Amino acid sequence: MGKSLVAVNAGPRVKWNTDTLINEAIKGAESQGAIVQKVDLFRLEKYTGCISCFGCKKEKFKGHCICRDGLTPVLDAIRESDGLIIGSPNYLSELTASFRALYERLIFQNLTYNLETPCCNEHPIPVLFIMTSNAPDTMYRDMMQNYQQSLSRFVGPTEIFISGETL
Ligand SMILES: Cc1cc2nc3c(=O)[nH]c(=O)nc-3n(C[C@H](O)[C@H](O)[C@H](O)COP(=O)(O)O)c2cc1C
Repeated sequence: MGKSLVAVNAGPRVKWNTDTLINEAIKGAESQGAIVQKVDLFRLEKYTGCISCFGCKKEKFKGHCICRDGLTPVLDAIRESDGLIIGSPNYLSELTASFRALYERLIFQNLTYNLETPCCNEHPIPVLFIMTSNAPDTMYRDMMQNYQQSLSRFVGPTEIFISGETL
């Protein structure tokens, strides 16, 4: 049976650099039989980053962000999916605020504070993580590798794809 993937555009500009790369990755996945649900983070209902309610640390909500807002269906879809494609433009040497909101909640819900088993994600999925920037490819590699480490640890094995000099 075909895999079901979620693709997230964490940039505001539809059909520009970041979105184009995400769409190409979607085409590749679809050519292999995957079904892809695309999400534009800038077109969701209102949402925030992690509000530090610690609901996800309660045993019965383990691995689930309990904050209900525009990101809830996205977090649910990612939890059910077989893979994640996510892309963001570089804004001020970081990723977009929308990316960060999703990232905080995606990672924190799976983090346990238990040193022996720091992650409670029982369904790791492969992640393709795309970033575009005006600066050359090498400029933000360290930052991207830091994200890669956290995503690999708490979501699943992550590959990064950087496309610089988009100007
Ligand atoms: C608010 C803002 C901040 C930006 N900051 C940076 C930056 O610090 N470094 C950089 O290389 N590019 C920066 N850029 C350029 C974008 O990362 C680059 O043009 C990107 O490819 C845009 O993606 P898009 O075409 O999908 O919107 C910035 C753009 C904006 C709008």
